[in-house]
Amino acid sequence: MTSLVLTVSETLRYRGAIGQWSWVLHRLSGLGVVLFITLHIIDTSWALLYPELYVEAIATYQTPLFTIGEFLLVGAVVYHALNGFRIIIIDFRPKWWKYQERAAVIVLAGAAIILIPVFIGMFGHVLNFYGGENQVLPLIDVLRAQIPFVVGIVVAIVAGVLFSFLQGLIAGGGEKKSDKSGSAIERFWWSYMRVSGLLIIPLVFGHLAMMHVIQGVFDITAANFTVVGTDVINQSGTAVEFVAARWNMFLGGVAIWRLYDFGLLALVVIHGFNGLRYVLTDYTAKNPTLRRGMVYVSLIGALVLIIVGTLALIGTIDSTAIEMAQRAAESLHQ
Ligand code: HEM
Ligand code: HEM
Repeated sequence: MTSLVLTVSETLRYRGAIGQWSWVLHRLSGLGVVLFITLHIIDTSWALLYPELYVEAIATYQTPLFTIGEFLLVGAVVYHALNGFRIIIIDFRPKWWKYQERAAVIVLAGAAIILIPVFIGMFGHVLNFYGGENQVLPLIDVLRAQIPFVVGIVVAIVAGVLFSFLQGLIAGGGEKKSDKSGSAIERFWWSYMRVSGLLIIPLVFGHLAMMHVIQGVFDITAANFTVVGTDVINQSGTAVEFVAARWNMFLGGVAIWRLYDFGLLALVVIHGFNGLRYVLTDYTAKNPTLRRGMVYVSLIGALVLIIVGTLALIGTIDSTAIEMAQRAAESLHQ
């Protein structure tokens, strides 16, 4: 914890070169996206498991608080992707290290060039929605809907620290691994972060283009609208029918959006939670129990999301779920 305070105060005091700020931005953007995907993967699974809750979750996405968050999220993903790409290139071409600062400026300029037209496109959807007759959930309901996530995160932290404490009690001082196997594992993770980062770029940019620009968050619940990436019309105008249409879309016998989402799920969760482990263990380095607890927290988070996300992807959303969603959507604003 003291190292976290030290990092923040030193970053502000140091008024560092651009490299310092790009490190901070990379870390903050990565953490922000980890928080978002934690909510997002759990609530996407509700399309199958609890259709009424999924209707409410998408309704929370269509409120001013989440609209601001949506712009921040897209900005964070684009910046993190470009900056990650810069890190990867320079890692593999160390002699370009001398161009670090210039590269950091190019990343900022590249992010601006991508984000300006994207934000204009997204803003068009925002104006259409809020300028129309649409009803919006009150802020208090939006905040209340986040309580289960806060509870889940607290439970994961307590469980992680408790496991670590118990492991410390059982193993005593004798559980230390050899430095050799430890550094081989860290080398693997170093490579994984780079390879997965490269693979995530097209997947996540494609997903964001579909969900923010081509169709837009607000059109997920538009009735009689062709669902993006399919030739199916969302007749009920429910978010559940939208997901069903995408997950039931077959191309050459392959459920392409399920496969696509599975690739996204596995790569993003493992990359994001290993990144979370780097950050959490950095700030708990002085306390071995807490530090190991943070490794467990990252592991628990990744496992829960991969299991829940995969269960959703292999299930079938039937017509009963769509009817339940329709009833829930009708009573949402009453
Ligand atoms: C507000 C922004 C977003 C919206 C509205 C959105 C929307 C959706 C929707 C409707 C689905 C259901 C399946 C489908 O249609 O493909 C989905 C699935 C998914 N999205 Fe997003 N998405 C957003 C941002 C993101 C971001 C930034 C990431 C990753 C960094 C991401 C990762 C995923 C994953 C992994 C799945 C599969 C979840 C599962 O298996 O349960 N999404 N998204
Ligand atoms: C879009 C493509 C992406 C690329 C090219 C990319 C690239 C990278 C790279 C190169 C690192 C540094 C790894 C290291 O220090 O060994 C990193 C760290 C990280 N990434 Fe990503 N990433 C991407 C997407 C994501 C996503 C979607 C998330 C969140 C789910 C995420 C979360 C993180 C976190 C939390 C860190 C650790 C930051 C730190 O240690 O300060 N990244 N990323």
